[in-house]
Amino acid sequence: MHIGFIGLGIMGSRMAANLLKHHVALTIFNRTPAKTAPLVEQGARPANTPADFANVDILFTMLAHPEAITAVALADDGFIHHLRPGALWVDCSTVTPSFSLSLAKTAEAHGVEFLDAPVAGSKPQAANGELTFFVGGTAENVETCRPYFNMMGNKVVHVGSSGAASALKVVINSLLGTAMASFAEALALGHSLGLPAELLLNVLVGGPVVPPFMAMKRLKIEQQQYESDFPLEWMHKDLHMAALAAYETAVPVPIIQSAKESYMQAMKDGLGALDFSAIYQLANR
Ligand SMILES: NC(=O)c1ccc[n+]([C@@H]2O[C@H](COP(=O)([O-])OP(=O)(O)OC[C@H]3O[C@@H](n4cnc5c(N)ncnc54)[C@H](OP(=O)(O)O)[C@@H]3O)[C@@H](O)[C@H]2O)c1
Repeated sequence: MHIGFIGLGIMGSRMAANLLKHHVALTIFNRTPAKTAPLVEQGARPANTPADFANVDILFTMLAHPEAITAVALADDGFIHHLRPGALWVDCSTVTPSFSLSLAKTAEAHGVEFLDAPVAGSKPQAANGELTFFVGGTAENVETCRPYFNMMGNKVVHVGSSGAASALKVVINSLLGTAMASFAEALALGHSLGLPAELLLNVLVGGPVVPPFMAMKRLKIEQQQYESDFPLEWMHKDLHMAALAAYETAVPVPIIQSAKESYMQAMKDGLGALDFSAIYQLANR
């Protein structure tokens, strides 16, 4: 099998590195070519353009947002026009379920198979091959891809047909984003009431009212060091994806909408490239 990988950011670079560790024949592309260099040193073949994937059997994409996928896959010289018939495109980006469904239909029109396969887990899990893949599409395609999912992750959940995995992913990230924003706000309230930061963190983190993932963000908040595992700008994007999906299905989501605007304010304050836990700085400035 010849595998392709497009999108070598925080997540994609680490996922592709794990494929190389398993001696997979890998062709890679990234909009910013410099990011391919470490993977080329590990044995990957660099593609010059997204059109240069005609020989791959499975192509993974791990891109920022729908606009990036449109640019790389669907534009005039996008890869969809060059993949061989029967090739399998696996999109791991976080997008709306309706966008995933539209990609599946476009792929089908080009004779290409498609899976939406967004992931749970962040930079450390991507590095350690510990991602969970949520997958939408046919069982046959899931099985074709399973060995490669297992090189990059340790759990595969076949959620349903095309778009179902993206649906689950926007649900999960709406919880992640709103929980982080409300935690930051609650801490600000606690500080203003005179409660020491250490006491608040000791009581809340690990306790029953705060989600377990907060333990992974505690050090960043304590040290005010927000090196990005998951960029704040993509959390804003994910809440936008959730809000779009809610609009498309006519569901009121006032809490998601409100949190989304907090992340936008944080981006305006220059926090977009930091980890999304930097929303703490917005609430506590
Ligand atoms: N980080 C996490 O913890 C995490 C966890 C689960 C899911 N995700 C999702 O995974 C995806 C990637 O996240 P990431 O953290 O790896 O982000 P990232 O480091 O910012 O990487 C984004 C990738 O998209 C490419 N890209 C952006 N805009 C583009 C455009 N207009 N045309 C072509 N390529 C473009 C970037 O290329 P350049 O290098 O040229 O900018 C880069 O390869 C997102 O959908 C995110 O929501 C992230």
